[in-house]
Amino acid sequence: MKRQAFVVGTGHMVPEAILTNADLEKIVDTTDEWITTRTGIKTRHITDASTATSDLALEACRRAMEDAGWAPGDVQAIIMATVTPDHAFPATACLVANRLGLPHVPAWDFEAGCSGFVYGMIQARAFIEAGLFDRILVVGAECLTKITNWKDRASCVLFGDGAGAAAVSSQGPGGLLGGFHWGSDGAISDLLVQQAGGSRMPATRETVDAGLHCIAMNGSETFKHAVRAMRDSCMLALEMDGTPKESVDLLISHQANYRIIDATARALDLPPEKVFVNIDKYGNTSAASIPIALDEARRSGVVKPPMTVVLAAFGAGLTWAGMIVKWS
Ligand code: UT7
Repeated sequence: MKRQAFVVGTGHMVPEAILTNADLEKIVDTTDEWITTRTGIKTRHITDASTATSDLALEACRRAMEDAGWAPGDVQAIIMATVTPDHAFPATACLVANRLGLPHVPAWDFEAGCSGFVYGMIQARAFIEAGLFDRILVVGAECLTKITNWKDRASCVLFGDGAGAAAVSSQGPGGLLGGFHWGSDGAISDLLVQQAGGSRMPATRETVDAGLHCIAMNGSETFKHAVRAMRDSCMLALEMDGTPKESVDLLISHQANYRIIDATARALDLPPEKVFVNIDKYGNTSAASIPIALDEARRSGVVKPPMTVVLAAFGAGLTWAGMIVKWS
């Protein structure tokens, strides 16, 4: 019988401290009205100076493992999507694996911007179907506010911190990982970039003074690509799955901008009640946004079998990904 991969547990973690739109009005020239109407964001959770990505990821993984009923010895690999690792190296996944008390399993980070979690789920599906593993933790975790330019009103109002994780198993019951589509376009990578700190432009006092170690985004151009790529990757994932769009029960999209989520929902002909939205609370948490939303949707009873869920992601790279997950 063909091996299959199922989501059997989820968990998330966000830091306690909340930054409101009213707080941002005191930092940059913006208004609650502009942020709310242009993005849908009201608040975001932000880490303190002593908290790093691995701290959030650790708790999200613990909760996903508890949800799945997994002991540390059950996990055979941990893969982490992040653009804000604790360090350039070692991989944050190794730090989390150690603190979880996992046996010496393969643990690695990869980076696909805000598409990271769906890229990770596609990898998990492939590894499980190939017979390499039976139980994998897939994590998306970020501390974006550590690389936010607090002088740039066009971007600093958007980002938040958090982590989400999924326990993926060869044994159901759970959410069956189905059809998917993923892609990238490096020709327009400059639309969303952290310029300094890598080998192209190592960090210096000058790069830090100029804020080049922070997120820089051409928002309106990125917006246009996001709407098109998310629509197309959802359609292609549905096609691979052999599922008509009329059968979709729920869209869980990357939470970058409410208007992008809405455009993706319209492309799928989905009414608002079939779209999960939590951008108002968390803002854009990059690779963490979809697993946080998936966990909230499951725990609040929005995801209940039988249900066909579409995951839709878009981010730096530029990258995009769509995946169908079916709870039966
Ligand atoms: O997660 C990875 C992928 N990321 C995305 O997909 C994000 C995509 N982009 C977006 O979500 C939106 O483009 C933004 C929310 C970033 C910006 O919204 P927009 O409707 O595209 O605004 P804009 O950049 O075209 O700017 C419109 C106006 C400008 O003023 P003028 O030139 O018209 O006078 C901006 O200076 O809004 C101004 N503006 C602000 N005003 C008040 C930009 N940021 C702010 C702000 N408060 N925070």
